[in-house]
Amino acid sequence: MSPSPRHPLPDEDWPTRAAAAASRLFSPLTLRSGLTLRDRTWVPAMVPWRATEEGFVSPDVVAWYERLARGRPAVLVVEATGIRDVPSGPLLRIGHDRFLPGLRDLVRAVAEASDGCTRLLIQVIDFLAIRRRPARERFLGEFLALTDRHREALHARGAFVDRPAGAIDDGVVRAALSALPDDALPDVLSERELEDLHQGYRERVTDLHLAHVAELPRVLPRLFADAAQRAQAAGFDGVELHYAHAYTMASFLSRANDREDGYGGSRDARCRLPLEVLAAVRQRVGRAYTVGCRMLSDEVIPEGSRVDDAIHYARRFAAEGMDYLSISRGGKFEDARQPRVGAAVYPYTGPSGHACMPTVFGAAPPFGLNLDLTARIRSALRDAGLDTPIVAAGGINGFGLAERALATGQADLIGAARQSLADPDWFAKMREGRGTEINRCLYTNYCEALDQQHRQVTCQLWDRLALDADATLSADGRRRLVAPPDGWRARTRS
Ligand SMILES: Cc1cc2nc3c(=O)[nH]c(=O)nc-3n(C[C@H](O)[C@H](O)[C@H](O)COP(=O)(O)O)c2cc1C
Ligand code: SF4
Repeated sequence: MSPSPRHPLPDEDWPTRAAAAASRLFSPLTLRSGLTLRDRTWVPAMVPWRATEEGFVSPDVVAWYERLARGRPAVLVVEATGIRDVPSGPLLRIGHDRFLPGLRDLVRAVAEASDGCTRLLIQVIDFLAIRRRPARERFLGEFLALTDRHREALHARGAFVDRPAGAIDDGVVRAALSALPDDALPDVLSERELEDLHQGYRERVTDLHLAHVAELPRVLPRLFADAAQRAQAAGFDGVELHYAHAYTMASFLSRANDREDGYGGSRDARCRLPLEVLAAVRQRVGRAYTVGCRMLSDEVIPEGSRVDDAIHYARRFAAEGMDYLSISRGGKFEDARQPRVGAAVYPYTGPSGHACMPTVFGAAPPFGLNLDLTARIRSALRDAGLDTPIVAAGGINGFGLAERALATGQADLIGAARQSLADPDWFAKMREGRGTEINRCLYTNYCEALDQQHRQVTCQLWDRLALDADATLSADGRRRLVAPPDGWRARTRS
C-alpha cells in the first residue's frame, strides 16, 4: 500500500487570460545566441523509455514529444541522449549520423504540433558503465577479480595456513570466500569490492587504472562536439550539455573527484573538462547556436559539492558563453537505495534522489523545493555582471509560485517536468485563462517508479483513461502512452 501524502497540493489562484498576458511568466526572453523564447515556460528533459533497442527515434518517441509540444511550452528539452555509438538499450542516441533521419522527424513533428511556437533542445549525455547487483554466489564464485590480498586475508583468518598464500588455487579461494558468513566479508573484501557486491559494479571518473576512464578528457570534447553538430544538422534549436545528476560530467564536477591528472582536486581542475567540452562544442556549432547545460546546485551526498562549488562553476560556464544554466539538485548513485539482486542501482532513490524529484511524501513540501539554491546561483551571477538566464525546476506546479520565482529573481525560466507530464496542456491552459481545467500533478512519483524499472513512462492521472482504438498502448497493452487530447479530466482528482 502506498503511503499517505504528507503535503497537500496548495490551492491555486489561476490567472485570467489578461493577467497571464501581463505576467512575467508569459513574457518573452532572448538568449545570447539570439534564440527568442516566446515566454518563460520550459519542459526539462525526461527519459520516457521509448527509443528502439538500437537507440533510434521510434514512432512512440515522436508521439511523446508531439503531445508535449501541443501544449506549446516555449522550450521543450528532449531526454538525455547518448553521445557515443555504443549499445545502451532503449535510450535515445546521437553518436552516429545514422541517427539523424529519426531526429529530423522528431524536430519536424514538434514544429508542426506546436505551430512553430516551441523551441526544441536536446540534452546530450555521457555515462560510465554500471552493472546489475550480482547474486552473492556469482560475485564471489565468478566476478570478483582475485588477488593476493584475498589469499592473505584468508590466511589471516586461519584458512589454508599449511600452504603459502600464492599456492592456493583460485577455485579453492572462491569456495572459501563463498563459505564465509556475511559479517566476515568486510575483513576479506575491499570497500569497493563490497560495494560491487551490494550495489553492483559501477565505474567512477577516478578509476584512472582503466584506460578508457583515464582518457576521458581526451575523447569527450570531440564526442560532445560531434553530437552537438548532429543536433544542429537535425534542426534542433540548441543542445543542453548534461552536467548534472549521476553521470560522467557531473562526476568530474563533484568534490569527490580527486583525479590527479589536472582534471580533479581543486574546483578549477574539476570544471576544466566541462569547460573544454563547452569550448569544443562552441567551436563546432558557432556563437549563434544555443548551448546550455544542466548542472547541480548541490549534490546532496556527504562529501559532495555544495552551492558554493555550483556558484564557482556557474560563473565560469556563464563567462565562457553558456546560453543558459538549468539548475537541478541531487540525483546521485552514492546514496541510492540498494537494488534487488539482478537490478541496477537507481540514482533517484536516496536522499539526493528525493531532492531531484521531490515528492509529497518527503519531510519538506516538494513545491518549489529547489528555488532557494537556484536563487543563490542566479544572484552570484548577477553580482559578477553575468546575465545568463537560469532555469529552475523541482515541484513548480502553479502560476503564483512561478510568477513569484520570476519576480523575486530566483529564476528566469520556469521548468516543470512532472506537471507537464501530468498535463501537457497546463502551460497553454494558464496562458488561455483556463487554469481551473489543469490536471494537477500529485507528486507521488508513479512515473519515476516506471522509469526506475526501465518501463515506458506514463502518468497515473491518464494512463488508464480511454484505452480505445485510438490510443497507443504500452508493451503490456494496459496503459496509454500519451495523455488524451485537450479537454480530458484526470482519473484522480486532487
Ligand atoms: C521520468 C523522468 C525522467 C527524467 N529524465 C531526466 C533526464 O533525462 N535528464 C534530466 O536532466 N532530468 C531528468 N529528469 C528530472 C526532471 O527533468 C526534473 O528535473 C525533475 O523531475 C524535477 O522537476 P519536476 O518537479 O518539475 O518534475 C527526469 C524526471 C522524470 C520524472
Ligand atoms: S505519475 Fe503523474 S501525477 Fe504522479 S508524479 Fe508522475 S506526473 Fe505527477
